[in-house]
Amino acid sequence: MKKIAVGLTGASGSTLANSVIKQLLDGGHEVHFVATQVGEKVLSYELETPYATWLSNYLSHPHFIKYDNTDLFGQLASGSYSIDAMVIVPCSMGTLGKIAHGISDTLIIRAADVALKEKRPLVLVTRETPLSGIHLQNMLTLTQNGATILPPVPAYYNRPTTVDEIVTQTAARVLLSLGIKSESHRVWGETHA
Ligand SMILES: Cc1cc2nc3c(=O)[nH]c(=O)nc-3n(C[C@H](O)[C@H](O)[C@H](O)COP(=O)(O)O)c2cc1C
Repeated sequence: MKKIAVGLTGASGSTLANSVIKQLLDGGHEVHFVATQVGEKVLSYELETPYATWLSNYLSHPHFIKYDNTDLFGQLASGSYSIDAMVIVPCSMGTLGKIAHGISDTLIIRAADVALKEKRPLVLVTRETPLSGIHLQNMLTLTQNGATILPPVPAYYNRPTTVDEIVTQTAARVLLSLGIKSESHRVWGETHA
């Protein structure tokens, strides 16, 4: 079992966050979850479900631990609290920029800052298009400092036929970057039923 910090921000892609969390919990991993205020609103809008209702589905799970993004006293804020890896899914350009510049004024950003300083895997599922030079420079800064930039780009070669399939496969790819092989992961060259 791995301890994974999962941050959710106000970029588009709440369904991906949901799939990542589900695959982690299904795989027996511990999810330490924190969302930004805008992230909560975008999730409600995109999933057409109030954030509190969506969250309540997970709160009863013994391996789901929820943090408040304003709580800088939360355990994720300290390098002494050992998590195995962190993912921010989806990751807004705003949050990306703050991490790239060390502006650790919320728990998500502080936790990402900690992952970098402790040399733990940090996967940023960045979503924006097109990308400005500022976005690209911030991505380069973070890549050069150990983060993995993983835009949710579909694996078209798997010939997906539904959006759900694309989301599940992309989430499985995210898990792989966290060092976890999900049951849903499809490997090129292997036969699938
Ligand atoms: C419906 C909706 C979709 C958005 N999608 C994106 C997106 O894909 N990428 C992005 O960088 N910002 C997106 N934004 C803007 C961010 O939510 C905004 O920059 C916000 O300040 C990010 O704050 P946060 O990183 O603290 O969550 C979106 C906003 C809304 C309302």
